[in-house]
Amino acid sequence: MDYNWKVMYKLSDFQAAAEMIRGRTNFRPKIGLVLGSGLSSLADTIPNPDIIDYADIPNWPRSTVEGHSGRLVVGELEGQSVLIMQGRVHTYEGYSAHDVTFPIRVMKLLGIETVILTNAAGGLNPAFHVGDLMLITDHINWVGMAGLNPLKGENDANFGVRFPDMTFAYDRDLQKLARKVAREEGVDLREGVYTWLSGPNFETPAEIRMLYRLGSDAVGMSTVPSVVVARHAGMRVLGISTITNVAPHHPSPDHETTHDEVIETGKIVVPKLITLLRGILRQF
Ligand code: HPA
Repeated sequence: MDYNWKVMYKLSDFQAAAEMIRGRTNFRPKIGLVLGSGLSSLADTIPNPDIIDYADIPNWPRSTVEGHSGRLVVGELEGQSVLIMQGRVHTYEGYSAHDVTFPIRVMKLLGIETVILTNAAGGLNPAFHVGDLMLITDHINWVGMAGLNPLKGENDANFGVRFPDMTFAYDRDLQKLARKVAREEGVDLREGVYTWLSGPNFETPAEIRMLYRLGSDAVGMSTVPSVVVARHAGMRVLGISTITNVAPHHPSPDHETTHDEVIETGKIVVPKLITLLRGILRQF
């Protein structure tokens, strides 16, 4: 790990990882799917997948957190070739924003055009309940605004422009498709703005009130840097949060947010998420 932002990955680092992956599977997926904390079981439903451990892929960052496995699952789901990341790394593990987004650029080199990102998030919007799914319509890149943007440093024009637009970070057609599938499948789908904080601590009530007043509906420790790097590289993005806990706007002596709660709720919400994602892939 190198914390010096001037030391970045070179094109050849991404290429080495992409070549290794290409050599291990005959699938040529156009869709990448990132499964967040506690959500990785969707990948287990793929028949006869090619499985690649993160540890075997050159330069690929490895997760250290319980609830995040560390492997790529490549195969067919609902008639689509997909490359699934079962687990991701986070900046709170000590990784840089460049490390955590390394896989997104590898996906780009593999020919992936659409990235579907899922995560566990704390609900800030008081209308949200534990176990809800939230379509991400926009984000607040809090960590990036504080100077830890994954695009910081010399721009790599192999991937995109110096100053990428983020007006439609989350693809409008994919949002429409997600709403349509949710309606058809009877899945209740909330919508809102996701804020990226570095963690690893959960937020104080004052931070929660602040974020909600600033227009954020859910908060988490991932996804946004991947979206920024994917959009920089011209990939389409769909983001779905699972509301694994309701962030308390006011301190309460009998409420505590724990990682176990996040993982346990993740498991409960997985069937709903699988229904939604399978429907989206079917109609892709
Ligand atoms: N805050 C930050 N990240 C999270 C939360 C939360 O409440 N729940 C799941 N990830």
